[in-house]
Amino acid sequence: MVPEIASRRHIELVDGIYRGALEEAGISDSDIDAICVTSGPGLIGSILVGLSFAKGLSFSLNKPLIAVNHVQAHAMSIFIEEDVDFPFIALVVSGGHTVILKVEDQNPLTVLGSTRDDAAGEAFDKIAKYLNIGYPGGRVIEEISKNGFKDYVAFPRPMLDENNYDFSFSGLKTSFINYVKRNGVNDGNIMHVLSSFQEAIFDVLLKKVLRATKDFKIGRVVVGGGVASNRRMREVFCEAGKREGLEVYFPSSGLCMDNGVMVALMGYYNFMKSAFSPLDVQGFSRMKLN
Ligand code: KG4
Ligand code: ZN
Repeated sequence: MVPEIASRRHIELVDGIYRGALEEAGISDSDIDAICVTSGPGLIGSILVGLSFAKGLSFSLNKPLIAVNHVQAHAMSIFIEEDVDFPFIALVVSGGHTVILKVEDQNPLTVLGSTRDDAAGEAFDKIAKYLNIGYPGGRVIEEISKNGFKDYVAFPRPMLDENNYDFSFSGLKTSFINYVKRNGVNDGNIMHVLSSFQEAIFDVLLKKVLRATKDFKIGRVVVGGGVASNRRMREVFCEAGKREGLEVYFPSSGLCMDNGVMVALMGYYNFMKSAFSPLDVQGFSRMKLN
């Protein structure tokens, strides 16, 4: 993804998307109660386009503006479809973030751990780019891995022996590239090599989440973010949930990927608490959750 091209496309599309959404919902400007918008973290150029558009709407319609944290919106996106009791351990796995949270209410979140280098989705995207098999990497890799052997290559499970909830996927990506350089990939083995890589990522994600559920004695797990749309990941987590007696929740695939509904929902929670943002609220590429 080229950030500058992405933000220019945002400028071209944002107005039409807004109009299209109103039309599809069968409502008009005057039916809107508040404008909810992502203020970070993410690609700053694209965030600024959305934020400027939302500020303009808020000013012209005289409706409150509510800035929303993108990662928090992913963590809460399950509530679009179902009610989950608090507390729960949330895992957000996207192209920019891999983070484990303790969620006790709609707002206070505790970050237990996060990635020290590449996010899980980023690792998928980078090896897909290396192999030149397409974008988004995670989806392409899932497709190719479908009938592959999961233990064809014994890829490392980084940081599993460390007593924390942090991740590191950059070394795993390097071992994948080294494997390919040494052994090569071809039509015969690519599905097995990718399936083994995918399994290594999900294994690490699962074990770190299980550690958190045990340490905090919380029997509920909620997953969100683009990577969570992966069917193998859902299977791995749901099987472990049954084995360990945990409730495991995944939003439906389309709501795992970036979407406006999760931003509206998080904004709605803030709206109910009258937690409005000033019109000069800033956008951030990096943003703390607590
Ligand atoms: O949450 P998201 O839509 O955008 C960000 O906030 O980053 O997540 C995008 C990420 C990309 O890295 C993409 O490769 C990954 O989600 N992804 C997947 C799948 N579909 C998208 N990863 C694994 N399996 C998938 N099926
Ligand atoms: Zn996202």
